[in-house]
Amino acid sequence: MKVLVTAGPTREAIDPVRFVSNRSSGKMGYAVAAAARERGHAVSLVSGPVALESPRGVDVVRVTTAEEMLAAVKKRVRGCDLLVMAAAVADWRPKKTAARKLKKSAGPPRIEWVATPDILRTIAPLKKPSQTFCGFAAETDGLAREARRKLREKNLDAIAANDVSKTDRGFEADRNALAVFFADGRALRIGLATKKKCAAALLRALEEISARKKM
Ligand code: CTP
Repeated sequence: MKVLVTAGPTREAIDPVRFVSNRSSGKMGYAVAAAARERGHAVSLVSGPVALESPRGVDVVRVTTAEEMLAAVKKRVRGCDLLVMAAAVADWRPKKTAARKLKKSAGPPRIEWVATPDILRTIAPLKKPSQTFCGFAAETDGLAREARRKLREKNLDAIAANDVSKTDRGFEADRNALAVFFADGRALRIGLATKKKCAAALLRALEEISARKKM
């Protein structure tokens, strides 16, 4: 299969030295890309700014902002069989980026925020019946309810929800536990394990969905 994966956070600039972002380390998305490559797929990885080495044999495209990630995904999504959106896209950006460093002496800045594009919602209308799209859901509350809402609203085939309120899993950790919800109502629990193991288990399930679509 041709697999497209996104990983890491995005960064939205406030001024030349400051930005707003989130705690995503990119480890989960990189593990998905590496596992997909190991399982024999052709893999492209659109990555936000992370401190990780490119997985071997994976075509890596580096981006910074949500807008840049959207453009990179749009360019590659048409040709892919499977999309896994593991990136933690920043939901807001400052309306204006200051051209010069904001000086502390001017006091705390009043920043006007605007929404960044929702990448999955934007590309949902482009999705072909033969394609499989999987999102991730980072939740602190109402994990199943929120994940199922995103599955439906973003027209996904599957969504992998993780609890980001604990320190032993999720953001920055080397391990994760996933609750995967599918469009047909099924659910799959992947218990606390290395992100590598979680990624392999998730891919097995997504390969099955993709194969069924192509029968
Ligand atoms: N996502 C996206 N574009 C955004 C934000 C999120 O494509 N601007 C994708 C993520 O990559 C993920 C899924 O949507 O696959 C869910 O992301 P999440 O941050 O959990 O949810 P949000 O849509 O931001 O919703 P909420 O703020 O209500 O949790």
